[in-house]
Amino acid sequence: GPTRLWGGRFAGGPSEALARLSLSTQFDWRLAPHDIAGSRAHARVLHNRGLLTSDELDRMLAGLDQLEADVASGEFTPVLADEDVHTALERGLVERVGADLGGRLRAGRSRNDQIATLVRMYLREQARAISGELLDLVSVLADQAEANGDAPMPGRTHLQHAQPVLLAHHLLAHAWPLVRDVERLRDWDRRAAVSAYGSGALAGSSLGLDPEAVAAELGFATSAENSIDGTAARDVVAEFGFVSAMVGVDLSRLSEEIIVWATKEFSFVTLDDAYSTGSSIMPQKKNPDIAELARGKAGRLVGDLTGLLTTLKALPLAYNRDLQEDKEPVFDAVDTLRLLLPAFTGMVGTLAFNRARMAELAPEGFSLATDVAEWLVRQGVPFREAHEIAGACVRVCEERGIDLPGLTDEDLTAISPHLGPGVREVLTVSGALESRAAKGGTAPARVKEQLERLRATVAGH
Ligand code: ARG
Repeated sequence: GPTRLWGGRFAGGPSEALARLSLSTQFDWRLAPHDIAGSRAHARVLHNRGLLTSDELDRMLAGLDQLEADVASGEFTPVLADEDVHTALERGLVERVGADLGGRLRAGRSRNDQIATLVRMYLREQARAISGELLDLVSVLADQAEANGDAPMPGRTHLQHAQPVLLAHHLLAHAWPLVRDVERLRDWDRRAAVSAYGSGALAGSSLGLDPEAVAAELGFATSAENSIDGTAARDVVAEFGFVSAMVGVDLSRLSEEIIVWATKEFSFVTLDDAYSTGSSIMPQKKNPDIAELARGKAGRLVGDLTGLLTTLKALPLAYNRDLQEDKEPVFDAVDTLRLLLPAFTGMVGTLAFNRARMAELAPEGFSLATDVAEWLVRQGVPFREAHEIAGACVRVCEERGIDLPGLTDEDLTAISPHLGPGVREVLTVSGALESRAAKGGTAPARVKEQLERLRATVAGH
């Protein structure tokens, strides 16, 4: 007979053009294991209500096991007439246990509550995998921070030299946002851990089935408070899309820096051969393709989120077929991150930093001028005046083509009587670093503590 789940009131089958438009198995087939898990739980609540005998339940579960194995082996696959994963699997079940028994499973459930539940099951599983991959990246950033010890680099604002910082401090500044992304996924899971099973098409089921029992069997914390919300809401899917986009954006910011650091002009890093690519025409080229792909895929991830939110905008309650468009964006986000993160982590873990070059540039661009001003403040000079004096030092240096430590004692007193020779002590990178000694600062001792706290945070997840 026809595989369709809704043939009764129709005189004929759908046109081929409609069947092709309607088809979702090319992307929702990945939900098949979750659909079968949902069917097992549903069969048990039907049995609990006396709608399946014990013998029927046993045969149903055996049929579902067989179907699961045949899906896993590729023996059973969807066909064009199947429309979606739910239809295909009902056909597969009927083929295995007969129409009499196989046809009983759909009682009290709808594809609307099924799909809302299955997407959550799948995304919760993927969120755990993505969190693990993010924590791997955080650990690799921590390893690089540790391996580079007290090495300084030029700290920048507006991409201009600002103040020297530890390379480790800068690397850890890329780790914390990723930790927050992991925490976002964990917090998101509280809202995702709600099963829509039992919501039916929109109004709930009249068969007295227990939604909480299904929810518990499928690993959810609870079931939906409102069957309309259960079937029609996709905010949890969109929130997953947001976190994915945020991860993409976070990776793109580190990517941009790696791309710049790898230029001849910067020469701050060398990429490992295993994590860089060559040019088909220019034999000398070594390109940071992983960082560029990460930067590019951030756009794609933002697009996934934007597309999904646009689909949801102004959609009336309850289920509308538009909602079928929720899956491809988030599946793409999952696939993108799972492809990208291992390569990205490998690239970061194998970066070789040119510490000598970074140290040499750390004091350049008058990056110690703030230290002059703050030294003056410690001598009792108001900051407003100290800023002017330090600025005058920079002006004199620029005129003479020298750097701040090149000013003689006479130069200093000529600029301001407040500038004694003691100021020289802060005109070193290590002095500047050591002095930023409050919590969160770049002083080596503080960065060591920061690294320990980051490691403890990773271990706690
Ligand atoms: N394939 C649909 C989706 O992804 C679920 C099926 C609901 N279809 C329906 N005609 N009510 O949202």
